[in-house]
Amino acid sequence: MTDRIPLLIDTDPGVDDAWALLMAFASPHHEVLGLTISAGNVGLAHTVRNALKLCEIAKADVPVFPGCAVPLVFPADDAAYVHGRDGFGDTGYLAPARRAEAEHAALAMIRLSHAHPGLLLVCLGPLTNLALALRLDPTLPSRVGRLLVMGGAVTGQGNTSASAEFNLGFDPEAAHIVFEAFESFDLVDWELVLRHGLPHAEVEAWLAAGTPKAAFYRAISRRTREWSEDRRGSLWHCADGLAMAAALEPEAATGWQHRAIEVETGGRFARGATIVDWTGRTGRPAKARILAGLDPARLHHWLRLALA
Ligand code: BDR
Ligand code: CA
Repeated sequence: MTDRIPLLIDTDPGVDDAWALLMAFASPHHEVLGLTISAGNVGLAHTVRNALKLCEIAKADVPVFPGCAVPLVFPADDAAYVHGRDGFGDTGYLAPARRAEAEHAALAMIRLSHAHPGLLLVCLGPLTNLALALRLDPTLPSRVGRLLVMGGAVTGQGNTSASAEFNLGFDPEAAHIVFEAFESFDLVDWELVLRHGLPHAEVEAWLAAGTPKAAFYRAISRRTREWSEDRRGSLWHCADGLAMAAALEPEAATGWQHRAIEVETGGRFARGATIVDWTGRTGRPAKARILAGLDPARLHHWLRLALA
């Protein structure tokens, strides 16, 4: 028996996903049950391979379940221009020795929720796998103790279009299904990520720690850090790392805002945007607990622990 919190992570690695996963593996208070993998940052073959490689580097004996290769309804563009064609900075790393599981990610989610009722579910990519699992088993939310989603841009300042954030913009229909199905969920949105930037020089110093994890992460993140410095200046934004810190240590939050939220699935200009009812006009239930801030010292603690 273990008193660690059972943690299931849905992810599309992805450079910032990778740091978040290393954080979860390093947590003394959590037991990572598995990684369910979606397409998103790059195609599914790459995201699965990256997850396997990362587990190998971290010596994490965690099963990897391949999931959906495309969004539920409409095709979407990936983010290879940020993460590299292979999603891990095109370093040409040696192929992982480990193999992925045969079970589909959506089925693994359902099975693991029965085996570990009350689990913590953290979603770091498009919500395609979770939406599919919810269609297969609508009772799934009753066995999830806490759902945390990295996604959305709560005042409409997106990163994949003018108004949409990447994860929800990639598969808005899936996000709609998830937001409808859960009575409550935590949201770490892109605009909050922008307010928790990490100085490039500090990140570079952490990545020079000399450990195998730091060396690997330094290599796979080099291109995206350079791209970010060129585009966004002196701060780097590790969206999934911030989300994972809030998942692992909710006490590190400096505030939450409870609001009703919708995902735009149509629209000429705003497909994939999150529409937050800030003033309570709709009368809809305030299901989303939107993170308002996270203690930077705790974020840095988790980021550094991950590399040790
Ligand atoms: C999200 O989009 C992806 O590119 C990142 O991995 C992160 O999950 C940020 O908008
Ligand atoms: Ca991600």
